[in-house]
Amino acid sequence: MEKPLSDRVTVPQLRQKKREGRKITMLTAYDALFAELLDEAGVDLVLVGDSLALVVQGHETTLPVTLEEMLYHTRLVSRGVRRALVVADMPFLSYQVSVAEAVRNAGRFLQEAGAAAVKLEALGAQTETVRAIADAGIPVMAHLGLTPQAVHRLGGYKVQAREPAQQERLLREAEALQAAGAFALLLEAIPQDLARRITRALDIPTIGIGAGPHCDGQVLVLHDMLGLFGRFTPKFVKRYAHLRDEVLQAVRRYKEDVEQGRFPGEEHSFH
Ligand code: KIV
Repeated sequence: MEKPLSDRVTVPQLRQKKREGRKITMLTAYDALFAELLDEAGVDLVLVGDSLALVVQGHETTLPVTLEEMLYHTRLVSRGVRRALVVADMPFLSYQVSVAEAVRNAGRFLQEAGAAAVKLEALGAQTETVRAIADAGIPVMAHLGLTPQAVHRLGGYKVQAREPAQQERLLREAEALQAAGAFALLLEAIPQDLARRITRALDIPTIGIGAGPHCDGQVLVLHDMLGLFGRFTPKFVKRYAHLRDEVLQAVRRYKEDVEQGRFPGEEHSFH
């Protein structure tokens, strides 16, 4: 059953939070179970990030995840969420080819998968695309700074905009994206002073990841902050749990119990 709109976090509420100086919280989720937990814990936004290519699908970059796969995971997440605003990441090549294709693909996340908004990486600003999606009534978050879909062009996952000229350009792009109708900006891996300037210059909220404490909100990849993803941990991640170790211990104990005949016991068996 669809959940009542009146109970949901909305785009205007997020803007209100910025005006009142109240921080916005966002985490990623890729399935209904974790989405339900994030929602119950009260986060404002749940992002179905294309980071699922790395943390769920086992790829090295976000490039291989397809539109159909993102739609599938967005459906799972939407099923688990009652209150938070679900944002779906538009995957590589789903919005870069033409503006018309971008609007159609963005619309599919709302029409077929229950998302309330989409996010796209705004390398080179993408203002025309953002404007067309927003004009179609679809809330769109623009992602600036380190844009992982451009990893090969950027030469790796590095902090962006360290030079003054790059900082001025990013600030201008942020302003252009707001003018084009973006409802929020995600700022990834940029110096904190630049994130502060952008946050102050805009009316729409900024959500930071590796962009310091001055953004209007923060986002982390769930599997990083839970200590589940072990391949690498960026400097900007704070680990709030060590679930990888816990899972390993639990599975090893189970294996030992079965091998030693300690499981199942009487209490787990039927007569
Ligand atoms: O895909 C993702 O998880 C992201 C992060 C920046 C949060 O976009």
